[in-house]
Amino acid sequence: MISIVKAMRKVILDCDPGHDDAFAIMLAVRHLEVLGITGIGGNCVIENVTRNALKILELIGRPGIPVYRGHSRPLVTELVTAPQFHGKSGLDGPELPEPAAKVRDGHGVDFIIDTLKSVDGVTLIATGPLTNIAAALNRAPEIAARITEISIMGGSASFGNWTPAAEFNIFVDPEAAYRVFNAGLHIKMCGLNLTRQCRITREEADRIRSIPTKTAAAAAELLGFYLRSSEKVQGVPGADLHDPCAAAWIIDPSLVKGIPMHVTVELKGEFTRGMTVCDYRHTRGSDPLRDICHEPSAAPLGEKPNAEVGVELDREGFFRLLFDTLAGYP
Ligand code: RIB
Ligand code: CA
Repeated sequence: MISIVKAMRKVILDCDPGHDDAFAIMLAVRHLEVLGITGIGGNCVIENVTRNALKILELIGRPGIPVYRGHSRPLVTELVTAPQFHGKSGLDGPELPEPAAKVRDGHGVDFIIDTLKSVDGVTLIATGPLTNIAAALNRAPEIAARITEISIMGGSASFGNWTPAAEFNIFVDPEAAYRVFNAGLHIKMCGLNLTRQCRITREEADRIRSIPTKTAAAAAELLGFYLRSSEKVQGVPGADLHDPCAAAWIIDPSLVKGIPMHVTVELKGEFTRGMTVCDYRHTRGSDPLRDICHEPSAAPLGEKPNAEVGVELDREGFFRLLFDTLAGYP
Protein backbone atom coordinates (compact mmCIF):
# COMPACT_ATOMS: atom_id res chain seq x y z
CA MET A 1 0.00 0.00 0.00
CA ILE A 2 1.55 3.30 -1.02
CA SER A 3 1.32 5.79 1.81
CA ILE A 4 1.35 9.35 0.63
CA VAL A 5 3.51 11.39 2.95
CA LYS A 6 2.24 14.97 2.82
CA ALA A 7 5.22 17.32 2.53
CA MET A 8 5.37 19.57 5.57
CA ARG A 9 4.92 23.24 4.85
CA LYS A 10 8.13 25.25 4.97
CA VAL A 11 7.94 28.08 7.49
CA ILE A 12 10.04 30.77 9.12
CA LEU A 13 8.91 31.62 12.64
CA ASP A 14 9.52 35.23 13.74
CA CYS A 15 8.84 35.47 17.46
CA ASP A 16 9.61 37.00 20.86
CA PRO A 17 9.52 34.07 23.34
CA GLY A 18 7.53 34.67 25.54
CA HIS A 19 5.51 31.86 27.10
CA ASP A 20 2.87 31.69 24.41
CA ASP A 21 5.51 31.97 21.67
CA ALA A 22 7.10 28.85 23.19
CA PHE A 23 3.92 26.88 22.45
CA ALA A 24 3.86 28.26 18.91
CA ILE A 25 7.42 26.92 18.48
CA MET A 26 6.43 23.49 19.86
CA LEU A 27 3.46 23.23 17.46
CA ALA A 28 5.39 24.52 14.44
CA VAL A 29 8.44 22.28 14.93
CA ARG A 30 6.27 19.17 15.30
CA HIS A 31 3.97 19.75 12.33
CA LEU A 32 5.80 22.05 9.91
CA GLU A 33 9.27 22.27 8.36
CA VAL A 34 10.75 25.15 10.37
CA LEU A 35 13.59 26.52 8.24
CA GLY A 36 14.62 28.91 10.97
CA ILE A 37 13.51 31.07 13.87
CA THR A 38 14.18 34.81 13.94
CA GLY A 39 13.99 36.64 17.24
CA ILE A 40 12.49 40.09 17.66
CA GLY A 41 12.57 42.43 20.64
CA GLY A 42 9.12 42.42 22.17
CA ASN A 43 8.11 40.48 25.27
CA CYS A 44 11.72 40.83 26.30
CA VAL A 45 15.03 42.20 24.97
CA ILE A 46 16.49 40.53 21.89
CA GLU A 47 19.27 38.69 23.76
CA ASN A 48 16.69 36.99 25.98
CA VAL A 49 14.16 36.12 23.28
CA THR A 50 16.84 34.46 21.13
CA ARG A 51 18.25 32.57 24.14
CA ASN A 52 14.70 31.50 25.04
CA ALA A 53 14.11 30.20 21.51
CA LEU A 54 17.32 28.13 21.78
CA LYS A 55 16.17 26.77 25.16
CA ILE A 56 12.81 25.63 23.77
CA LEU A 57 14.53 23.92 20.82
CA GLU A 58 16.93 22.22 23.24
CA LEU A 59 13.99 21.08 25.39
CA ILE A 60 12.14 19.48 22.47
CA GLY A 61 15.25 17.87 21.05
CA ARG A 62 15.62 20.04 17.93
CA PRO A 63 18.77 22.08 18.61
CA GLY A 64 19.68 22.00 14.91
CA ILE A 65 16.98 24.47 13.87
CA PRO A 66 18.80 27.78 13.29
CA VAL A 67 17.98 30.77 15.46
CA TYR A 68 18.90 34.27 14.32
CA ARG A 69 18.93 37.59 16.14
CA GLY A 70 16.60 40.12 14.51
CA HIS A 71 15.89 43.71 15.37
CA SER A 72 16.27 44.71 18.99
CA ARG A 73 13.76 47.57 18.76
CA PRO A 74 10.92 48.94 16.60
CA LEU A 75 11.51 50.84 13.35
CA VAL A 76 10.73 54.24 14.85
CA THR A 77 9.88 54.21 18.57
CA GLU A 78 11.53 52.72 21.67
CA LEU A 79 11.07 49.05 22.66
CA VAL A 80 8.23 48.25 25.08
CA THR A 81 8.50 44.90 26.87
CA ALA A 82 6.02 42.78 28.88
CA PRO A 83 7.81 41.51 32.02
CA GLN A 84 4.54 41.53 33.93
CA PHE A 85 3.40 38.59 31.78
CA HIS A 86 6.67 36.82 30.96
CA GLY A 87 9.06 37.80 33.75
CA LYS A 88 12.56 39.31 33.57
CA SER A 89 14.02 36.53 31.44
CA GLY A 90 11.03 36.56 29.09
CA LEU A 91 10.43 32.89 29.92
CA ASP A 92 10.27 32.77 33.73
CA GLY A 93 9.12 29.61 35.49
CA PRO A 94 11.06 26.39 34.90
CA GLU A 95 14.83 26.01 34.78
CA LEU A 96 15.10 25.01 31.10
CA PRO A 97 18.14 23.12 29.81
CA GLU A 98 21.02 25.35 28.79
CA PRO A 99 21.11 25.25 24.97
CA ALA A 100 24.12 23.60 23.34
CA ALA A 101 23.41 25.52 20.14
CA LYS A 102 24.36 29.16 19.70
CA VAL A 103 22.56 31.99 17.95
CA ARG A 104 23.68 31.87 14.29
CA ASP A 105 25.86 34.57 12.80
CA GLY A 106 24.09 37.03 10.55
CA HIS A 107 20.98 39.12 11.04
CA GLY A 108 17.50 37.65 11.16
CA VAL A 109 16.30 40.01 8.43
CA ASP A 110 19.05 38.75 6.09
CA PHE A 111 18.00 35.17 6.88
CA ILE A 112 14.38 35.99 6.00
CA ILE A 113 15.36 37.67 2.72
CA ASP A 114 17.92 35.04 1.67
CA THR A 115 15.59 32.15 2.49
CA LEU A 116 12.63 33.66 0.66
CA LYS A 117 14.82 34.32 -2.39
CA SER A 118 16.24 30.80 -2.47
CA VAL A 119 13.41 28.55 -1.23
CA ASP A 120 10.00 28.23 -2.90
CA GLY A 121 6.74 28.00 -0.98
CA VAL A 122 7.77 29.57 2.31
CA THR A 123 5.12 30.68 4.81
CA LEU A 124 5.87 33.17 7.57
CA ILE A 125 4.46 32.86 11.08
CA ALA A 126 4.89 36.06 13.09
CA THR A 127 4.08 36.09 16.80
CA GLY A 128 5.86 39.25 17.95
CA PRO A 129 6.18 42.84 16.75
CA LEU A 130 6.45 42.90 12.93
CA THR A 131 9.72 44.85 12.75
CA ASN A 132 11.79 42.09 11.09
CA ILE A 133 9.13 41.39 8.46
CA ALA A 134 8.73 45.07 7.61
CA ALA A 135 12.51 45.58 7.48
CA ALA A 136 12.84 42.62 5.11
CA LEU A 137 10.09 44.03 2.86
CA ASN A 138 11.74 47.47 2.92
CA ARG A 139 15.15 46.03 2.04
CA ALA A 140 13.89 43.57 -0.61
CA PRO A 141 10.33 44.42 -1.74
CA GLU A 142 10.50 41.63 -4.32
CA ILE A 143 10.21 39.01 -1.58
CA ALA A 144 6.52 39.94 -1.07
CA ALA A 145 5.57 37.82 -4.08
CA ARG A 146 7.67 34.94 -2.71
CA ILE A 147 5.75 34.69 0.59
CA THR A 148 3.07 32.02 0.27
CA GLU A 149 1.21 33.58 3.18
CA ILE A 150 1.86 35.08 6.58
CA SER A 151 0.02 34.07 9.73
CA ILE A 152 0.20 36.91 12.25
CA MET A 153 -0.64 36.89 15.92
CA GLY A 154 -1.40 40.56 16.29
CA GLY A 155 -4.07 43.20 16.39
CA SER A 156 -7.70 42.73 17.17
CA ALA A 157 -11.06 42.93 15.40
CA SER A 158 -12.51 44.00 18.73
CA PHE A 159 -10.50 45.62 21.54
CA GLY A 160 -6.90 45.96 22.58
CA ASN A 161 -4.93 44.60 25.51
CA TRP A 162 -2.01 47.02 25.81
CA THR A 163 -4.30 50.01 25.34
CA PRO A 164 -8.08 50.00 24.99
CA ALA A 165 -7.57 49.99 21.20
CA ALA A 166 -4.20 48.34 20.52
CA GLU A 167 -2.85 44.82 20.93
CA PHE A 168 0.78 44.54 22.19
CA ASN A 169 2.56 43.23 19.07
CA ILE A 170 1.07 45.95 16.89
CA PHE A 171 1.38 48.62 19.60
CA VAL A 172 5.13 47.98 19.94
CA ASP A 173 5.76 48.70 16.25
CA PRO A 174 2.72 50.19 14.48
CA GLU A 175 4.80 51.47 11.54
CA ALA A 176 6.08 47.94 10.87
CA ALA A 177 2.57 46.54 11.10
CA TYR A 178 1.26 49.20 8.72
CA ARG A 179 3.96 48.20 6.20
CA VAL A 180 3.12 44.50 6.47
CA PHE A 181 -0.66 44.93 6.20
CA ASN A 182 -0.22 47.15 3.14
CA ALA A 183 2.37 45.02 1.30
CA GLY A 184 -0.13 42.93 -0.68
CA LEU A 185 0.63 39.74 1.26
CA HIS A 186 -1.78 36.85 1.86
CA ILE A 187 -2.42 37.50 5.53
CA LYS A 188 -4.09 35.39 8.21
CA MET A 189 -4.67 37.67 11.21
CA CYS A 190 -5.04 36.06 14.62
CA GLY A 191 -6.22 39.02 16.64
CA LEU A 192 -7.25 39.12 20.28
CA ASN A 193 -10.89 38.57 19.30
CA LEU A 194 -9.74 35.09 18.20
CA THR A 195 -6.90 34.32 20.61
CA ARG A 196 -8.95 35.14 23.70
CA GLN A 197 -11.00 32.08 22.69
CA CYS A 198 -7.79 30.15 23.39
CA ARG A 199 -7.59 30.94 27.10
CA ILE A 200 -6.13 27.87 28.84
CA THR A 201 -7.62 26.84 32.19
CA ARG A 202 -5.78 25.46 35.19
CA GLU A 203 -7.53 22.13 34.59
CA GLU A 204 -6.14 21.99 31.04
CA ALA A 205 -2.70 22.93 32.37
CA ASP A 206 -3.00 20.09 34.88
CA ARG A 207 -3.86 17.74 32.02
CA ILE A 208 -0.58 18.75 30.36
CA ARG A 209 1.26 18.09 33.62
CA SER A 210 -0.11 14.52 33.55
CA ILE A 211 1.51 13.81 30.15
CA PRO A 212 4.56 11.66 31.06
CA THR A 213 7.22 13.49 29.05
CA LYS A 214 9.89 15.97 30.11
CA THR A 215 8.65 18.44 27.49
CA ALA A 216 5.14 18.30 28.94
CA ALA A 217 6.53 18.72 32.46
CA ALA A 218 8.41 21.87 31.40
CA ALA A 219 5.36 23.07 29.46
CA ALA A 220 3.28 22.70 32.60
CA GLU A 221 5.85 24.75 34.55
CA LEU A 222 5.77 27.44 31.87
CA LEU A 223 1.97 27.47 32.05
CA GLY A 224 2.08 27.65 35.83
CA PHE A 225 4.06 30.89 35.67
CA TYR A 226 2.02 32.28 32.76
CA LEU A 227 -1.28 31.50 34.51
CA ARG A 228 -0.15 33.24 37.69
CA SER A 229 1.14 36.32 35.87
CA SER A 230 -1.86 36.57 33.52
CA GLU A 231 -4.41 36.18 36.33
CA LYS A 232 -2.56 38.77 38.42
CA VAL A 233 -2.50 41.33 35.58
CA GLN A 234 -5.90 40.62 34.04
CA GLY A 235 -7.87 39.58 37.12
CA VAL A 236 -9.65 36.72 35.35
CA PRO A 237 -8.97 32.98 35.51
CA GLY A 238 -6.82 31.45 32.79
CA ALA A 239 -4.11 32.60 30.37
CA ASP A 240 -4.44 33.40 26.68
CA LEU A 241 -2.45 31.14 24.35
CA HIS A 242 -2.29 33.84 21.67
CA ASP A 243 0.68 32.79 19.54
CA PRO A 244 0.01 29.07 19.01
CA CYS A 245 -3.22 30.11 17.23
CA ALA A 246 -1.09 31.58 14.42
CA ALA A 247 0.80 28.29 14.05
CA ALA A 248 -2.32 26.13 14.41
CA TRP A 249 -4.10 27.98 11.59
CA ILE A 250 -1.27 26.98 9.24
CA ILE A 251 -1.03 23.42 10.57
CA ASP A 252 -4.77 22.76 10.27
CA PRO A 253 -6.75 25.48 8.47
CA SER A 254 -10.02 23.92 9.68
CA LEU A 255 -9.24 25.11 13.22
CA VAL A 256 -9.98 28.77 12.49
CA LYS A 257 -12.84 30.46 10.66
CA GLY A 258 -11.58 33.56 8.89
CA ILE A 259 -13.45 36.41 7.23
CA PRO A 260 -11.92 38.53 4.47
CA MET A 261 -11.69 42.13 5.63
CA HIS A 262 -9.68 45.22 4.92
CA VAL A 263 -7.30 45.86 7.81
CA THR A 264 -4.99 48.80 8.32
CA VAL A 265 -3.10 50.20 11.28
CA GLU A 266 -3.73 53.53 13.00
CA LEU A 267 -0.48 55.47 13.37
CA LYS A 268 -1.63 58.88 14.53
CA GLY A 269 -4.53 58.50 16.95
CA GLU A 270 -3.83 59.94 20.40
CA PHE A 271 -5.86 57.10 21.95
CA THR A 272 -5.83 54.61 19.06
CA ARG A 273 -2.21 54.40 17.85
CA GLY A 274 -1.49 50.74 17.05
CA MET A 275 -5.15 49.84 16.55
CA THR A 276 -5.88 47.40 13.71
CA VAL A 277 -8.85 48.98 11.98
CA CYS A 278 -10.88 46.03 10.63
CA ASP A 279 -13.57 46.83 8.05
CA TYR A 280 -16.61 44.61 8.65
CA ARG A 281 -18.52 46.26 5.81
CA HIS A 282 -17.36 43.57 3.40
CA THR A 283 -18.77 40.74 5.44
CA ARG A 284 -21.92 39.74 3.62
CA GLY A 285 -23.91 38.32 6.52
CA SER A 286 -21.17 35.78 7.21
CA ASP A 287 -20.58 37.24 10.61
CA PRO A 288 -23.14 38.30 13.26
CA LEU A 289 -21.14 41.45 13.92
CA ARG A 290 -21.91 42.68 10.42
CA ASP A 291 -25.53 43.29 11.26
CA ILE A 292 -24.46 45.49 14.14
CA CYS A 293 -21.68 47.34 12.37
CA HIS A 294 -23.06 47.82 8.87
CA GLU A 295 -25.85 50.29 8.22
CA PRO A 296 -27.76 49.22 5.06
CA SER A 297 -26.99 52.59 3.58
CA ALA A 298 -25.53 53.48 0.24
CA ALA A 299 -22.29 54.24 2.07
CA PRO A 300 -19.51 53.21 -0.28
CA LEU A 301 -17.74 50.10 0.89
CA GLY A 302 -14.16 50.63 1.99
CA GLU A 303 -11.05 49.24 0.29
CA LYS A 304 -11.15 45.60 -0.73
CA PRO A 305 -10.13 42.97 1.82
CA ASN A 306 -6.39 42.50 2.35
CA ALA A 307 -6.51 39.93 5.15
CA GLU A 308 -8.36 36.90 6.43
CA VAL A 309 -9.36 37.89 9.97
CA GLY A 310 -9.80 34.96 12.34
CA VAL A 311 -13.17 35.18 14.10
CA GLU A 312 -13.84 31.69 15.42
CA LEU A 313 -11.51 29.06 16.91
CA ASP A 314 -12.31 25.35 17.10
CA ARG A 315 -11.15 25.39 20.71
CA GLU A 316 -11.61 21.65 21.22
CA GLY A 317 -9.67 20.88 18.06
CA PHE A 318 -6.90 23.29 19.08
CA PHE A 319 -6.38 21.72 22.50
CA ARG A 320 -6.50 18.21 20.96
CA LEU A 321 -3.65 19.32 18.69
CA LEU A 322 -1.74 20.84 21.61
CA PHE A 323 -2.08 17.82 23.90
CA ASP A 324 -1.15 15.39 21.09
CA THR A 325 1.84 17.55 20.14
CA LEU A 326 3.20 17.70 23.68
CA ALA A 327 2.74 13.95 24.09
CA GLY A 328 4.78 13.45 20.92
CA TYR A 329 7.88 15.14 22.29
CA PRO A 330 10.52 13.44 24.50
O1 RIB B 1 -0.79 40.52 22.72
C1 RIB B 1 -0.31 39.21 22.76
C2 RIB B 1 1.02 39.11 22.07
O2 RIB B 1 1.97 39.92 22.75
C3 RIB B 1 1.61 37.69 22.10
O3 RIB B 1 2.37 37.49 20.95
C4 RIB B 1 2.49 37.70 23.31
O4 RIB B 1 3.58 36.78 23.20
C5 RIB B 1 3.02 39.10 23.26
O5 RIB B 1 4.10 39.12 22.35
CA1 CA C 1 4.71 36.79 21.13
